[in-house]
Amino acid sequence: MSENKKQSPIIIAMTGASGAPYALRLIQRLAKQKIQLHLLISDAARVVLDKESDFILSPDLDTMAQEIADFIDVDALLLTCWGNKDWMSPVASGSSDMQDMVVVPCSMGSLARIATGASSNLIERATDVMLKERKNLVLVPRETPLSEIHLGHMYNLSKMGVRIIPAMPGFYHQPKSINDLVDFMVDRIMDHLGVDDGSNTRWGA
Ligand SMILES: Cc1cc2nc3c(=O)[nH]c(=O)nc-3n(C[C@H](O)[C@H](O)[C@H](O)COP(=O)(O)O)c2cc1C
Repeated sequence: MSENKKQSPIIIAMTGASGAPYALRLIQRLAKQKIQLHLLISDAARVVLDKESDFILSPDLDTMAQEIADFIDVDALLLTCWGNKDWMSPVASGSSDMQDMVVVPCSMGSLARIATGASSNLIERATDVMLKERKNLVLVPRETPLSEIHLGHMYNLSKMGVRIIPAMPGFYHQPKSINDLVDFMVDRIMDHLGVDDGSNTRWGA
């Protein structure tokens, strides 16, 4: 394992924007580094996951971690899945030891609710906690084109220290496959989590 800055559990939320492969790959690469992950998946994210991958996730919370682990070939013990209204989850409280959260992909609906503090589900509550505790919140929004509403929310969140990493892979590393494009984005997200698994693409390296 490479030298990693942070080893506290990381929260990963998937919402209903296009880009489920980014989330699956991020979970896989972090779990391969033996980092504990708390997973939150919105109802719309399930629909998108179904459309964008060969993976159909059952609604049963008891089997979810194992299903995800089997699909991406990681240890299920590293994954903890929470329901949308699981207010007893540690991610719902500022007293938890989590320092980092990623919303990937981040829908414009979730972006709006995060930006306005409208915590109607556990994903939004967890992001609200990250904001109030001044912890590391990374959003990977995806929509095109972007309206003034979307841009305004991103601008306001960025002013609060949120890292806005739009799902916009570059091409200067000469990707040969979709996986290369997915990894380009995951590299950038991992940079902002302070995790380097040794495969991050870097300009000039
Ligand atoms: C296949 C599919 C692709 C979608 N892509 C996007 C997208 O790229 N960006 C976005 O903001 N919403 C997208 N949506 C719409 C969101 O899923 C929808 O607004 C949903 O209410 C978001 O809910 P959530 O934020 O709770 O996950 C998509 C929906 C589907 C079914």
